Amino acid sequence: MEVRVNLLPRLLNEEADVAVVIDVLRATSTMTAALHFGAKKIVPVLSVEEAKKYREDNFEVLTVGERGSKKIDGFDLGNSPRELSEEMIEGKELVITTTNGTVAVSKSKRARKVILASFLNLGSVVRLLKRESGRIELQCAGTDGDPSLEDTLLAGALVSQLEIGHINDSCRISSVLYEAVKDNLESFILENGVHAKRLVSLGFFEDVGFCAKINLYDLVPLWRDGGFVRG
Ligand code: MLT
Repeated sequence: MEVRVNLLPRLLNEEADVAVVIDVLRATSTMTAALHFGAKKIVPVLSVEEAKKYREDNFEVLTVGERGSKKIDGFDLGNSPRELSEEMIEGKELVITTTNGTVAVSKSKRARKVILASFLNLGSVVRLLKRESGRIELQCAGTDGDPSLEDTLLAGALVSQLEIGHINDSCRISSVLYEAVKDNLESFILENGVHAKRLVSLGFFEDVGFCAKINLYDLVPLWRDGGFVRG
């Protein structure tokens, strides 16, 4: 097994055996939480218009997402994992659009297998990846075209815990960073992450702490027939 870390998402093709999409703050954390609360399927789309159209065609779907980290006008939910509950989500299909996370999904779709990772499901993702062979691409979403601290840290946690052959320097960069700060993950992200600071300024302080929690959920979102389901 070989692992490549992409600090910004690359356009993948079938040569990638597994694409692991990472957007800690907050898209992959939110999608993981939604499946934990019993969502039937999560369909990521790139634009607000696509999400609205999807709902028009599929009456009972919930619209989820953000622009500038804020809930989109007319949508049912924003992009906060802390907004979700079983009562709201169980048995429902969701359509989601976010600024960076759903772009990273779109660039990953041609890999043979596509999964979502967050700190919330780190252990489950590691267990699944240990059973895989071939090339694994860790696709960090980043923030508005720049690598992000929190995505790099999660990629580093995966590299450290997988203990396998690395194929680029980004593997080393991310795992060295993770090992250096792993005991103070939440405060390191809060004090240093550009996107974390932006979320705090918008009133989402608690989201940052929540998304830094490790192994809260035991599931791996898996791409199947146009959306993510509980794998
Ligand atoms: C994104 O996809 O850009 C993020 O999830 C934005 C956010 O809600 O913080």
